[in-house]
Amino acid sequence: MKPILIRGGHLIDPATGIDAPHDILLEDGKVAAIDKPGKIKRKDAEILDASGLVVAPGLVDIHVHLREPGQGYKETIASGTAAAAAGGFTSVCCMPNTIPVNDSPEITRWMLAPERNAVIRVFPISAATVGSMGEKLTNYPALKKSGAVGVSDDGKPILGDEIMFECLKAATRYRLPVIQHTEDTRLTAGCSMNAGPVAFRLGLRGMTVESESSLAERDIALVRKVKGAHLHVAHLSSKKALDAVNAARNEGLHVTCEVAPHHFVLNEERIGDYDTNAKMNPPLRAESDRAAMIEGILQGRVDCIATDHAPHACHEKEQEFERAPNGITGLETALGLTISVLHKQHGMPLPSLLAMLTHRPAQVLSLTGRGTLAVGSHADVVLFDPNEKWTFRAKDSRSKSKNTPFDGYPMLGRVHTTISEGRIVFQR
Ligand code: DOR
Ligand code: ZN
Repeated sequence: MKPILIRGGHLIDPATGIDAPHDILLEDGKVAAIDKPGKIKRKDAEILDASGLVVAPGLVDIHVHLREPGQGYKETIASGTAAAAAGGFTSVCCMPNTIPVNDSPEITRWMLAPERNAVIRVFPISAATVGSMGEKLTNYPALKKSGAVGVSDDGKPILGDEIMFECLKAATRYRLPVIQHTEDTRLTAGCSMNAGPVAFRLGLRGMTVESESSLAERDIALVRKVKGAHLHVAHLSSKKALDAVNAARNEGLHVTCEVAPHHFVLNEERIGDYDTNAKMNPPLRAESDRAAMIEGILQGRVDCIATDHAPHACHEKEQEFERAPNGITGLETALGLTISVLHKQHGMPLPSLLAMLTHRPAQVLSLTGRGTLAVGSHADVVLFDPNEKWTFRAKDSRSKSKNTPFDGYPMLGRVHTTISEGRIVFQR
C-alpha cells in the first residue's frame, strides 16, 4: 500500500486538540506524521489535495443495523459499510438483532470474516441474552474474545430486574459496556409513535416519554448496586430520560448516552399523514424534547451522536403505519444534518461536534486507536467540505434500503474522501 500524504487541509482532531492547517502522512495503515503545511516531504506518497477541506478522524458510529446474517435484502455488511464510508464513517458497531440473533462467538466471527467484504471496520455488539429473549445471559468472555465490543438486546429491552442485574454484573466482570434500548415495552404495546397531539389526530396509540425514562431510571438504580458497571443508553430521545442520565452522572455513576440525528433534527409533526419513513423506535418526539436534545448536546451532556441506521425494504415500509417496521437509514445523512443543525443553526463549533462523532463514541466502546489522528493511531480519515451545500437523494444512497425522511433534504457539509486504515474507500 502506497503512503498517502494529505496536503493543504484544515486538520481537526478533537482528541488531541488540533484545529489548524496541517498536513498528515498515512503509512502502513497508521497515522505516520502530522506537521505544519509543507513540512512533510515524501516522494513515494500519493498526494491528496485537501485545500478548502476539513481533515478529521474517520467518523465512528456505535449504533447501526447491518442486517446480516439473515436479511441481506435490506442490507448486507458490504452495502452497509459502503454507505458508512460514503457518510464519512470508518468504524461502525452493529447491533445483534440479526436472523439469527448474534448471541454466539460463531456469529460474531462470521460477521467479521473477510468474506463479508466490509469496506470499513465493523465492531459487533453481541446479544446480552440468548436470542435476546431476556432470560439467560450469553457467554460474555467468549463473545468478547471473538470480537464483541459490548452487549445489548437492542430493540428488545431487558425488562426483568433480576436478569438486568445479572447482565450488569457479568458485563462488568469482563469489562463490557451494557447498551440498553430503554423502552418499557409493557407500556408501549400497540403503540406506533410518540404520545401527543399528532398521535391523537392520526388516531394512533402513542408511546409516552415515561416508557423511556422509567426504564432508564430502573437501569440506573441497578448500576448503583454494581461497582464499576458501565451502562450506555442507546438513542435517547426525551428530556426526562436525559435528566435521569445526567443525575446518574452527577452521582459519579458510569452512565453514557447517545442521541440520533433524527431526534435533534425532526419532531413528531414530520409523520404528517402517516409517513412510515418517519417511523422509528424511539419515535420522533414533541418539539420540546427535540429542543432538549439540542440543549443537552450543546451543554456537553450527551456523549455521542449515533445514527441507529436501520434499513428496511420499500415493500415493508409501504404498509399501514401501524404495521410498518420501525427504523430509518442514517449513515449518509448524519454529518450533513449535524453540521446543518448543530453548527450552522446553533453555532456549535466544529471540533465539539466532531468530538461527538469521533473520539467520544470510540471512548464509550473502548475502540482503541480509533476516532483520533494522533500519530500511531489507525489511518482512518475523512475529508469534508463544511460549507458545501447539497441535497440528499435517497435513490443515490449506497444502502440497499431507501427508508429515510431526509430524501430531498438540503444539507450543509459534504464528505469528499474517506480513508480506512490507509486505503481510500470512498471518493466523490
Ligand atoms: O427504529 C428502530 N429500528 N429501532 C430499533 O430499536 C430497532 C431498529 C431496527 O432494527 O430496525
Ligand atoms: Zn434500539
